Amino acid sequence: MPETGAEEGDPRRLSRTRVFVLGAGIMGSGIAAQCALKGYAVTLADVTEELVQRGLANALRGLDSAVRKGRVRESERSEAAARIETAIGLRRADSAPIVIEAVPERLELKQQVFRELDAASAPTAMLATNTSSLPVTSIARVVEDPGRVVGLHFFNPVLSMALVEVIPGHSTRPEVADAAVAFARSLGKTVVRSRDSPGFLTSRAVAVGLNEAVWMLYEGVSTRDEIDQAYKLGFGHPMGPLELADLVGLDTALAILDILWDGFHDPKYRACPLLRTLVEAGKLGRKSGEGFYKYEAPPAASGPT
Ligand SMILES: NC(=O)c1ccc[n+]([C@@H]2O[C@H](COP(=O)([O-])OP(=O)(O)OC[C@H]3O[C@@H](n4cnc5c(N)ncnc54)[C@H](O)[C@@H]3O)[C@@H](O)[C@H]2O)c1
Repeated sequence: MPETGAEEGDPRRLSRTRVFVLGAGIMGSGIAAQCALKGYAVTLADVTEELVQRGLANALRGLDSAVRKGRVRESERSEAAARIETAIGLRRADSAPIVIEAVPERLELKQQVFRELDAASAPTAMLATNTSSLPVTSIARVVEDPGRVVGLHFFNPVLSMALVEVIPGHSTRPEVADAAVAFARSLGKTVVRSRDSPGFLTSRAVAVGLNEAVWMLYEGVSTRDEIDQAYKLGFGHPMGPLELADLVGLDTALAILDILWDGFHDPKYRACPLLRTLVEAGKLGRKSGEGFYKYEAPPAASGPT
């Protein structure tokens, strides 16, 4: 069982427990902020100094926003900020009993990163992947001890979303899955478990819904704004599906649909050509400044126009 410190729930102990987050993008920066807020020492890592600094700024912006909304006290924000250090590459990965990978959703990239993490991390560390749809078993395959690899799927924005999905792969040891659940709960999250089935529970559910909305736009059933309005006002969704697609990232949404298609060969998972075209055009949603909507810089802090 990895020594995550999560079982204790003691802030002094947590501050000595380091979480190494690899990939300082939308998710990695949010995960770093959430872990720091709950008392963990955090290393946020990416491939260049610029990317790491962008991720740190994003994490701090998220904490600032939580203060403005009255969910976090100013003192908690300052303490959390002080717990986050940055690193380039895998330097410092060996000091963390919990490693969370949040690099882009491509199997070859994740396998490459896990090969490197296998060598760079402590052999007893839990290696968690934030993949939203890739088989945890395939990611774990490249590691000498796949029993220590587990899916730990956070939701965007991490600081406000209450859920974490835990996905044990074929070889994940039960005590590692249990430690992942305990860790997620120590972050104040509610956990659902899913089998390592294509798209797991949550990505399968959301991808089909987003795709249907894109098909309706593509077919001219209604306009972008009316589609989003219908879901919000008619069904009480906090966000329309096209806004949500921009938040998730159109490339990520497309990757999930392609994985569902590969896994099930069921036409209901066929990605709408409009989604594919937007991704090919580099219109990835908030993170690129444009998707179904346009965004003012900095993307993470702005709303759709
Ligand atoms: N965006 C979402 O809403 C969402 C929600 C849940 C899960 N996820 C999953 O989280 C993961 C990350 O998604 P994201 O939206 O944060 O992506 P992102 O593109 O915003 O960030 C990825 C980061 O990883 C970095 N990176 C790339 N290669 C690296 C390497 N070899 N070493 C270290 N860093 C590297 C990139 O520079 C980038 O900063 C994906 O697996 C995605 O499916 C995303």
